[in-house]
Amino acid sequence: MTIRKTIVGRVDASVLEFTAGKDVVLDLALAEVDCIGSAAHVTMLSRMPRVKILSARARNAVVRELVGIMGAARRGRFTILPEDQDVHLAVERMLTAKLGDTGKRVHTARSRNDQVATDLRLFAKERMLTLMEDVLGLAGALTALGRKYAGVPMVGRTHLQPAMPSSVGLWATAHAESLLDDDILLRAAYFVNDRCPLGSAASYGVSIPIDRALTARLLGFRAPHQNVLYAGNARGKCESAILAALAQVMLTLSRFAEDMILFAMPEFGYFILPPEFGTGSSIMPQKNNPDVLELIRARAKIVSSQAAAVMAIVQGLPSGYSRDLQETKEPFLEGLRVTAACVRVLVPLVQKLGVNRDKLRAGFTPGVFATDKALELVAGGMPFRDAYDHVKAHLGDLGMVDPRAALRKKTHLGAPAGIDFASFKARVRREQGFVRAERRRFHGAISRLLGVRYPELPQKGTKRAK
Ligand code: ARG
Repeated sequence: MTIRKTIVGRVDASVLEFTAGKDVVLDLALAEVDCIGSAAHVTMLSRMPRVKILSARARNAVVRELVGIMGAARRGRFTILPEDQDVHLAVERMLTAKLGDTGKRVHTARSRNDQVATDLRLFAKERMLTLMEDVLGLAGALTALGRKYAGVPMVGRTHLQPAMPSSVGLWATAHAESLLDDDILLRAAYFVNDRCPLGSAASYGVSIPIDRALTARLLGFRAPHQNVLYAGNARGKCESAILAALAQVMLTLSRFAEDMILFAMPEFGYFILPPEFGTGSSIMPQKNNPDVLELIRARAKIVSSQAAAVMAIVQGLPSGYSRDLQETKEPFLEGLRVTAACVRVLVPLVQKLGVNRDKLRAGFTPGVFATDKALELVAGGMPFRDAYDHVKAHLGDLGMVDPRAALRKKTHLGAPAGIDFASFKARVRREQGFVRAERRRFHGAISRLLGVRYPELPQKGTKRAK
């Protein structure tokens, strides 16, 4: 039996390895936000009235060290030792090595439980802003595609069977509107995430008068959690709300991907995938496969299972921290990463998508106009059911109609000739404005806290401006 000495006690080496699990690797992604959280915490401690834990000088020394550690992390020079268990104790070890007693004061009035929760909120905030931006970018690209080919006929299908005259514009903006709905869900999850758990400590608060509103403000959060127990309990719940929104984004992408795979296959040939988005076969020289789209289809399933996994881990947990929560970290970080990558890869694909008008037109058969014919009879005064029966009885007599002419008649709101492209664009713009303002607010707060122009960090060796 090998015993390892850690900051929090002596632990058997294999137990340490088992309990730290993937944290020693996953937490590397949290190094930067962990330092930011600590900077806010020590700032608050240094401003506490009556209780003197850290002087302003000591606070500045800690923040300077933290900024240095952040720089090291960006250069890939941040390590979590097995004895650290996680990023939190790794940073404490580094601070104490450099600053001695001052480093040992940093963990006053907090726990790793509120620390990790805060880290994940900060991490998610940045990632969600970027994701929302990319989702809106993709919605914008689909709207532009729809507008460009607004009048290009495309058979509308139900059960995959030819159904009614439709257009490329309708098809493309359907996916755009789905993304705009996903943006609503992302925004809701963003608000759930925008509460600061820091200072809840082990979920029951502390016996010295810390200022949780101050730390929340310093970190650019909208507000602190009201109740310290809920601040702890919200771990996993918040992640699961975000993952649920991500799964919705992936649901939209997977349906777009499936449409593309189908309609770009030679037998349809409606769309031409940019050749650089396909990959070849090692045996069949002629192949150019839609691998990107197939992977998106599969990854949608992965993200929804990550959402389900986090929900399942949290369900039925007792109030207060349980180590189970650590296991929500990997699916959460992975879900964020995968979704972001899938949205990103699609933007240029949509921008460079080719449209084959001839193939699209070849999809039309007289039957596609059957409903239009019945409605023509209705316009002449015939009850719909009689018109329906009449057309059904004479299907063989239906002739070809110019699909463009058929489209021009579908003018009501949201129909092929009634799509309000400007409203799509306006919605995208408005939401982009929200993201920009949020990012400005967030980065402004962190910049003031660290005394640097975050997200930039001072280069190694240069003196930090005060
Ligand atoms: N790595 C841990 C996690 O992600 C940090 C909290 C550990 N807290 C504890 N009481 N063991 O949950």
